[in-house]
Amino acid sequence: MPENILIAIAWPYANAQIHVGNITGSHLPGDIVARYHRLLGNNVLMVSGTDSHGTPVTLRADAEKKPVEEVYKFYHDGFLELFKQLGIQYDLFTTTHTQNHFKVSQSIFLALQENGFLYTETRPQWYSPGSRRFLPDRYVEGTCYICGFEGARSDQCDRCGNVLEPEKLLNPRSKVDSSTPELRETQHFYLDLSKLEPEVTQFLRERQHYWRETVIRQSLGQIESEGLRSRPITRDLDWGIPVPVAGWEGKCLYVWFEAVIGYLSAAIEWAHIHGPADAWKNWWTNPSAKAFHFIGKDNIFFHAAWWPAQLLGVGEGFVRIFSGESGQPLTLPYDVPANMFMNLEGQKISGSRNWAVWGKDALSRYDPDALRYYLTVNMPEMRDSDWDWGEFVARNNNELVATWGNLANRVLSFTYRHWDGHAPAPAGLAPADQQIIAVVEGGFASVGEYLNKVQLRGALGEAMRLATEVNRYLDISAPWFTIKTDKDAAARSIYAALKCIDNLKLFFAPFLPFSSERLHTFFGYTSPLFGEGYIDTVQDSLGEHTVLRYRPGSASGRWEPSRLAPGQALNQPAPLFRKLDESVAAEERSRLGPKT
Ligand code: MF3
Ligand code: ZN
Repeated sequence: MPENILIAIAWPYANAQIHVGNITGSHLPGDIVARYHRLLGNNVLMVSGTDSHGTPVTLRADAEKKPVEEVYKFYHDGFLELFKQLGIQYDLFTTTHTQNHFKVSQSIFLALQENGFLYTETRPQWYSPGSRRFLPDRYVEGTCYICGFEGARSDQCDRCGNVLEPEKLLNPRSKVDSSTPELRETQHFYLDLSKLEPEVTQFLRERQHYWRETVIRQSLGQIESEGLRSRPITRDLDWGIPVPVAGWEGKCLYVWFEAVIGYLSAAIEWAHIHGPADAWKNWWTNPSAKAFHFIGKDNIFFHAAWWPAQLLGVGEGFVRIFSGESGQPLTLPYDVPANMFMNLEGQKISGSRNWAVWGKDALSRYDPDALRYYLTVNMPEMRDSDWDWGEFVARNNNELVATWGNLANRVLSFTYRHWDGHAPAPAGLAPADQQIIAVVEGGFASVGEYLNKVQLRGALGEAMRLATEVNRYLDISAPWFTIKTDKDAAARSIYAALKCIDNLKLFFAPFLPFSSERLHTFFGYTSPLFGEGYIDTVQDSLGEHTVLRYRPGSASGRWEPSRLAPGQALNQPAPLFRKLDESVAAEERSRLGPKT
């Protein structure tokens, strides 16, 4: 029975380009797992979108003196292009600025209200008399009332690290125009998380045995020591989703409250575009569906505690309020395999200092699979990792090119030359040939096991180990020599090697989809493994927005041993990867901003 797998990937803020840390943190691992489940024949839905609201985006627009709408679209379109080029194969990558997302978020809000999980409270907040608006916490700076640091943000001090109560900040000034704000009372809705604490705790305990320890520590561990505190879910802002309550004009839903709802609304938008319109329920109201959330460590609380709390709080109310049908509860996350951070050459990635490797820039010089390879072997699964240009070159040359690329290339070109463009058709196989085929076929279980557990470094390492085994087998069987004296023996080992490579192609395919696709055509197969991403435009009452979609290939159900036909016609092979010059490392380092 195929499973329904939702691949939910963190929504990037529309305030900066995407760098290698973002890619290895969430988009790439999500894509790898999605492709694997597609090969298995599962029903996969992979969604995300641009997080278009919130102060990170309005601050950027203020700094650039441009309308927020223009700024969000600029970054959004850059994301679509990057994911297309890098092969991050979204069923739908959309944005939070859509009519559909507004309606879904407002329905979640109303369901929570109906179920008694919302209350209102009035509190003082910094207000700018000059620009006649309330200032978000991030817009106000001043002196920390704990350590005296003069550059503290109203909600957090970067010197002493304390979370601050914004209204206690000393000498406050507006980050926009340096004017002095004053405190004014304002009313907000709060999500009563304390009422949901028992359910959220139980949800986490049930999953504790298979979740990453880093994630459990930051969710269950934190709730057990500090409890779940209520949080305001509205803001005094005009860029965002209106609060769906009369008299609340001029206030919006808090960006984190609505952004996580994107996992649901994007599935609904996808179903609407793709049809049938209620197909989203296969993932969202189906208790056996598995939702995987791919995020970075800074997002753990919001995905492992806050989002489950919202889902538990709405209960059956969402479906009823949203579509008027009889209610069903929504599926809770199955796994939240959060990654830690990737640093760059020993220092924290910093966009403002240009201490970063930008995705689109890197793709202008390197093949997507070379980047995907290094980003996977170096994925910060359990602890922070480091992008090092010297290591990028070395691993590309010594592993990707030397172990896997050369194996595929030398066997295929040798075959093409000596068997006239066809796979050999030996009369039978020797025990050693059968043995290497069996060893590599073991990868369907061993590589698959790692992938099931979202241990992607382990999975790729296992695939590479099997490639090494095939190289060793060829060193011994040496068809390049036996061909001169015993063409039948050479045919047997080449046929066995081809079968192994055809299987290795599948093990590598989730990680290295572009080269696996080419290799697939060298073997003479006609239907592509994976389809292609493309950019589309959707119209709604808020205007139009661009989205990334994809046309599926024939991946479904291919995760099984090769049945390569003896004598199969091949296509002219070519090298899969490029060797990089040693000078690349120094060249790339010189592109970076100053070291601190
Ligand atoms: N925009 C947030 C960030 O970049 C992530 C939001 S994930 C979401 O940290 F699902 F909540 F949108
Ligand atoms: Zn301080």
